[in-house]
Amino acid sequence: MVDLSTKYMGLNLKNPIIIGSCGLVDSVEKIKNLEKHGAAAVVLKSLFEEQILSEIDSLSGDSNYSEGQEYLSYFTKSHNINKHLDLIRDAKKEVSIPIIASINCSNADGWTDYAKKIEDAGADALELNVFVLPTDVNTSSEEVEKLYFDIVKNVKKEITIPFSIKIGSYFSSLAKMVVKLSKTDLAGIVMFNRFFSPDIDLNTLEIKPSNIFSNSSDLFNTLRWIAILSHQVKCDLVATNGIHDGAGVVKSILTGAKAVEVVSAIYEKGPEFIQEMLNDISKWAEENDYTSINDFRGKLSSSKQENSLIYERAQFMKYFGSYK
Ligand SMILES: Cc1cc2nc3c(=O)[nH]c(=O)nc-3n(C[C@H](O)[C@H](O)[C@H](O)COP(=O)(O)O)c2cc1C
Repeated sequence: MVDLSTKYMGLNLKNPIIIGSCGLVDSVEKIKNLEKHGAAAVVLKSLFEEQILSEIDSLSGDSNYSEGQEYLSYFTKSHNINKHLDLIRDAKKEVSIPIIASINCSNADGWTDYAKKIEDAGADALELNVFVLPTDVNTSSEEVEKLYFDIVKNVKKEITIPFSIKIGSYFSSLAKMVVKLSKTDLAGIVMFNRFFSPDIDLNTLEIKPSNIFSNSSDLFNTLRWIAILSHQVKCDLVATNGIHDGAGVVKSILTGAKAVEVVSAIYEKGPEFIQEMLNDISKWAEENDYTSINDFRGKLSSSKQENSLIYERAQFMKYFGSYK
């Protein structure tokens, strides 16, 4: 028997598969079913910063929304924030796996005291999905980065439970940013966020979403950066975006991830697929004479390569340069 247990943000997980934040994690029944099929923890469907602010506005009688905020207003009305707290309380009564709450945010102020309510409702941890695409040509990279540190600082003032941040890879110096973030009060960094990916409908000339779900070839970016950073950070790293089978989990652990967050594969194949992934991880470990996932974690982190820049350049020359 391979020991699949791992520790993430100080939480003991029976295996490395966390079901990431999404609509599959929005009711107690769904969470119970995910636990039954082997999920080690769940991240609840995110509460949006706008929902918290809208609740605050409605309590103060100020609920004037500009036209551009119409959709957000509609969304927030239909997703009452108290339901999120009830879901945490009810899930804690019904399941024994850790419950990680989630807030999707893009500002450092106005909503952060809500994190305390999440802690009081019994969440084991909190994941902050910092959803910022730095599109403003007048905003410097320092200003963009400052937002992340301000969010961490303001949330830390409110809670004592561990918390993590889910980030994208759009930073001018991603490596430095992740290492700096890891030295704050964060217990974990989740790499990487899946932003809305635009495509164009040539019939209607409208912007439409490209793939909502990931596929296994999306994992390369996560593998690259966790391999480069896992031995240099001061907090746990979690892999997400493109884990579609047991092999994807093994690869993530090899680069140094403490756990993985899976969403698209569960939408496509159902919660039953979790057990299949777990079986495949165990099978691979047994075939390679590992008795626990700790035995192979980080084996392929870039600390094992002499110099990652030379390694990356050499790989490029080897695989791309040979095509005539
Ligand atoms: C339908 C859908 C809904 C999602 N909802 C959320 C959400 O509410 N909050 C969040 O942080 N991420 C959300 N995500 C992103 C996932 O948590 C995850 O980071 C991303 O899908 C990459 O994992 P995957 O490759 O396993 O799909 C959602 C993803 C999908 C596909």
